[in-house]
Parts: sequence; C-alpha cells; structure tokens
Amino acid sequence: MAAVLPLSGCFWLDGPQSTFDPNGPVARHQMDLFYVTCWVALVIFVVVGGVLAYATIKFRARGEADEHAEPPEQGHGNPVVEMSLIGASVLALVIIAIPTLREIWYSYEVPVEDKANAYEVTATGYQWWFKFDYPGETAQTVDAAGKTVNAPFTTANELVIPAGRPVHINLRTVDVIHSFWIPKLAGKVDMMPNRGNHLWVQADKPGYFWGQCAEFCGESHAVMRFRVIALGPREFNDWLNAQMAPARRAAAAAGTGQPKAQFAAYRTFSRNEPGTTAKFDASPLDSWRAQQLPAAEEDPALIARGRELFADKTCRTCHTIRGDGYVGVVGPELTHVGSRSTIAAGLLENNRDELHRWIHAPNEVKPGNKMWVSGYLANGIKLTPGDEDALVNYLESLK
Ligand code: CUA
Repeated sequence: MAAVLPLSGCFWLDGPQSTFDPNGPVARHQMDLFYVTCWVALVIFVVVGGVLAYATIKFRARGEADEHAEPPEQGHGNPVVEMSLIGASVLALVIIAIPTLREIWYSYEVPVEDKANAYEVTATGYQWWFKFDYPGETAQTVDAAGKTVNAPFTTANELVIPAGRPVHINLRTVDVIHSFWIPKLAGKVDMMPNRGNHLWVQADKPGYFWGQCAEFCGESHAVMRFRVIALGPREFNDWLNAQMAPARRAAAAAGTGQPKAQFAAYRTFSRNEPGTTAKFDASPLDSWRAQQLPAAEEDPALIARGRELFADKTCRTCHTIRGDGYVGVVGPELTHVGSRSTIAAGLLENNRDELHRWIHAPNEVKPGNKMWVSGYLANGIKLTPGDEDALVNYLESLK
C-alpha cells in the first residue's frame, strides 16, 4: 500500500509530464475518461471487498470445534444471484464503454465545427528525434546562383503551435515504431512504418510543454524527447516570419577578420548529468523567448570558420541549413537551431556549454545515435577544440 503512491507518480501531479494537469480539451477529455473508469473500478472494489470482508468475519472459526467442522452447506445455482451478477458486470462495462467510444471519436479528429480553423503539421519519428513539417508554410532559401527561392518549412524537436487553435498532427516514421506523446495536451498515438496516423491537440493558452516518445524504439528511446511551444496569434506569426528567412548571417566583422585567438573554455559534464538547469525549467517559455534574440557578443570570423567546418567535417551530409547551401535530410534541420530552447531532441538546454557537450561526444548523451556511429566513427571525424568552438559559435548564431 505504501508503494502505491510513489509507483503511480502521484506525488507530482503538476510535473512537466503529468497527465493530471491537462492544458487542452483533448487531454481534459482523456483525464475525465480515466476518472470514470476509476470510479467504476472503485465501486466494484468496495462491493467485492465488502462482501469478502463480511464473509471472512461472519464465518470465521470461533473455536476448536469450528476449525474441524464440516463446511456448511454450499449455496449455488441461485438464478437470481447469478443473473444479477452477470447483469451488474455488463452494466459496469457499458458504463465504461460509452464514454470510451465517445472519447476515441473525439480524440481521433478535430470536431467538425473547428475543422476550418485547424492548423496542420506533420511529425516524423527518427531514431531518436522528431522532425516537424509545416505543409501550409513556404520558407526561403538561396539557390546555387545566389537567387532567393521557395523551400518547404521544416524544423526539429521543438513544435511551435498557435495556442487556442486546434492543431492536426500527421504522424509518420522513417524507421521503427515510435509513439508521439504530449502528456499535458493529448494521449499517445503510435507512429507506424508505412501507415499514416494522426491526432489533434489544442493548447488552451500560450505555454511550454514536454513531449516524449512513448514506444520503445532502441537504445536511446528514453532520451527521445521533444518540446511543444504554444504561442498567442501575434507571437506565433512573428515566429513563423523569422523562421521563413534563410540562415542568419552575423554582422560582418569590424576588425581584422581573424577569429579571436583565445578559444572559449567549455565546462565538462559527467555522464548522466541533467541537461537543463533549474533556472531554465522554472520558466522554459521565457527561456525560449530569450533564445530568439542574437547573443550580445558574436565573433563573425569565428562563425564564418564554423560555417566552413560544417562542410569540411561532413555535417552538411545530414543537416539542412537553408541559405548556406547545406541540404542533408538524415538529421535535424538546423537553419534556425540557435532559436530553439533545447538541443539533442529536447534533452539539453540550448547554450554554448551544452552544445559543446553534444558535438564533443554525442554518444555520451544519446548512445548509438547516427551522428556518432554513421558520422564521427564511420568517417573518422576528429574535431579539435578550435573546431568545436567555431562550430558552436556558428550554430548558436543561427537565430
Ligand atoms: Cu522513439 Cu521511443
């Protein structure tokens, strides 16, 4: 009994991944259904437990003679009792089935009256991160001739959505089965190979939500996470507009054009050290907002060096950076990676130290990931401290 509360996680009802703190209609409906089931189960528990306790006490052995007595005459074959027990079981199942079916229909598709207002995105699972496509948006990139041309808008690991509006999410996967779960917005739905699934969510108001892959999908399943940022209409539009632009170029160097000789010192991390600070977690939405602005100090020469290294070290084989000529599609899209609040599929706070931690030894953070196995190891990629510093500065400049 003592273990029941901690095992159920009920000590932390408003935790970042608690389904007991719904922030949208779908999650609310699902929690209501949970409570209906809970109450029915509780009634059955009390009735059966009560009868059992009554029989145990009433017919207990009171003395030596009782312990050796013949069992009393057994009652069976009473049609009234048997029919009513069957009837009660069926009734209990019907009480649960009606709202269950109703909620299945409800969570399956945006209600008809809201459908015209629904925003559409496509989420794709990869081992071990999420890609988000916005099919209704058109972004800009720069072609080989230097001309600005249209490109699809894709981002990764942080799903930014309009608050107060239904969002219809198509679910896809490129490899194994994943499961898409935003505990405070909607229950999990699997991402199946060769099969289109979908769900819809709606955030009541602007907020910042944790997401998690909820289906075992390989060694780094537990760290396959994502974040959902819901914004008011104006802020959402501002964000979209900023994202449509090709990769940002830091202001041209006023000085020599040479990187500053002194490389930044990065702190080291122990293996399973949390990737976010208490300050970040206290107000992640504010951290996300602060992340939209360029850093106060930038070293354009160092950033330019990082941009070259991105090609030299084969990063571009897997990552797209619109406008800088990189068009890889194996790994997350990075055109505006500096404006995300997290990196490594929602696992690490996006700052210089954590980004350095990630590119220095990605296998320490996400065992078995492709950047390490098929990138660093397969291609024999070696990064000097100076290379890492340049890459960190380049990626952080991509606001
Ligand atoms: Cu993807 Cu678990």
